[in-house]
Amino acid sequence: MMLMENLRAEYYLACELTLATGRLLTEFRRDKLNIKHKGEINLVTAADRAAEDYLRERLGAERPGDSILGEEGGGDISGERVWVVDPLDGTTNYAHGYPAWCVSIAVMSGGRSVLGAVYDPSHDELFSAQSGRGAWLNGRQLTVSRQVALDQAFITTGFPYDLREHPDEVLAPFNAMVKSTLGVRRPGSAALDLCYVAAGRFDGFWEFGLFPWDTAAAALMVTEAGGRITNREGDDWHPKQKFIAASNGLIHDDFLRIINSSTGGGEK
Ligand code: IPD
Ligand code: CA
Ligand code: CA
Repeated sequence: MMLMENLRAEYYLACELTLATGRLLTEFRRDKLNIKHKGEINLVTAADRAAEDYLRERLGAERPGDSILGEEGGGDISGERVWVVDPLDGTTNYAHGYPAWCVSIAVMSGGRSVLGAVYDPSHDELFSAQSGRGAWLNGRQLTVSRQVALDQAFITTGFPYDLREHPDEVLAPFNAMVKSTLGVRRPGSAALDLCYVAAGRFDGFWEFGLFPWDTAAAALMVTEAGGRITNREGDDWHPKQKFIAASNGLIHDDFLRIINSSTGGGEK
């Protein structure tokens, strides 16, 4: 009982922090973005850093005993209770004024996500989930889609920043999926891609090369909304794994078959 009440407090804190960080990012002055490259096609802005600094400061004050893992400041995922934060998921979109980005916060306990909050300020959409208590969008409970036919499925994906080092491996499933489904999108925010699967807007999502801050919160939305998440072998997935396949569950086996047959299979 105590544990549930504690978790409830964490849940509201995570939601409040995503909203506050979303406001910070929305109000950030565009002339102060100071866009830099972390890699050849991997951008970072002063807003990413300010947002993570804000989250670390708030969490340090409100949960001093907990650990933090964040994209910009690093950290360790293996603590007892870890706040896994992506202060800005979709930096390339944000830097170009393209409204597909969000703030993502998960709490991991005992190595698994126990709650998640993802806020998309451009559409004022707050996705949230608590383990065993469902997934929600602005207070409305989410369920995944009922699409059973892969050839009518609406799919989303993203590309890793090291795409130029192994383009064929990344593009082979994309090529195959475009020919096998109703349509494939590449919006540019992995956390929102997963939330949209939870909401039934997409039927499936796959990506290579993700990190826990991209997935730890939104993957919980998918499973709490009744969907399925696996690795390429169809086994249980963990946020430490870089490849993810998420779907409504109904198309999952066919979905994995297309991904694997296009590349010859194998974890990445
Ligand atoms: C990226 C986005 C993008 C995905 C990349 C991620 P970032 O996160 O989620 O959709 O394709 O793999 O790294 O860098 O914008 O936080
Ligand atoms: Ca990210
Ligand atoms: Ca980020």
